Amino acid sequence: MSRKKIIAGNWKMNKTPQEADALIGALIPAVADADADVVVCVPYTALAGVTALTKNTNIAVGAQNMHFEEKGAFTGEISADMLLALGVKYVIIGHSERRQYFGETDASVNKKTLFALDKGLIPIVCCGESLEQRELGVTNEHVRLQVKAAFQGITAERAAGVVVAYEPIWAIGTGKTATAAQANEVCAVIRGVIGELYGAATAGAVRIQYGGSMNAANAEELLAQSDIDGGLIGGASLKAEDFTAIVKAG
Ligand code: 13P
Repeated sequence: MSRKKIIAGNWKMNKTPQEADALIGALIPAVADADADVVVCVPYTALAGVTALTKNTNIAVGAQNMHFEEKGAFTGEISADMLLALGVKYVIIGHSERRQYFGETDASVNKKTLFALDKGLIPIVCCGESLEQRELGVTNEHVRLQVKAAFQGITAERAAGVVVAYEPIWAIGTGKTATAAQANEVCAVIRGVIGELYGAATAGAVRIQYGGSMNAANAEELLAQSDIDGGLIGGASLKAEDFTAIVKAG
C-alpha cells in the first residue's frame, strides 16, 4: 500500500509573525514541486499571516495545540473553530513537551483527537517513550498504550485520517536521532496496534511520522523505511534550506 509522505514542521515557540512570514516567503517557491504533503505548525500568533500567505500554495498550516471544548471560560485556550476560521487544517495533539510541561494526559489527548476529528481538523497525534522507558525495555508497551488511549472512541472510517507522530523523547532536540531501524520498529508497532483496533486496511492507510532530530542529512534514510511515512521536524524546520531538503527527501 502506498501512502503519501507527510513532512510537517513544528516551529514550537519560535518566530514572531514577521519572522514567520519571512520563512514562509522562502519556503513557498522552494517546496512548490514537492511530492510529499507539506505542513507548517506555527505559533498561534503567526497563524493569520501564514495561512494568508500560503493560500493557493501546496503548504498546509497546522496549530501546535487546541482545546477540546467548543468555547467558553478557558482563559488562554484556543478553540477548533478559531483555527478553522483562519484556514488551519492540521493540529498537533499531545506533543511530549505538552505532556511533560503542561499536564497533557492520555485522556486529554483522546478528547482533543476526537474533537479535532469532529471539527474536520486533521490531528497529528504524538507518542513516544522517554530514555528511561527505552532503557527499561518498555518502549513498545508504552507506545501501544498511548496509541490505544488516543484512539479510544474513534470510528474506523475516521481513524485512517489521523496522522500519528512517533517521537522518542530522548531524540527530541538532542541531536540524538533514533536509528532508522529503531524508528521503523516502533512505527511498525504503532501500525500493528491500529491494525488490532481497526483492521489491516486502516492500518495500511494511516500515516505515521518519525520525529526527533530529523535533519537534512538523516531524513532520506529514515523516510525510506517501510513504516515511516513522514517526519515531524522541530529545529530543522526553522531554516528554509534544511526544511526544504527534508521535504525533497520525502
Ligand atoms: P527536533 O527536530 O528539534 O528534535 O524536534 C522534534 C519535535 O519535537 C517535533 O515535534
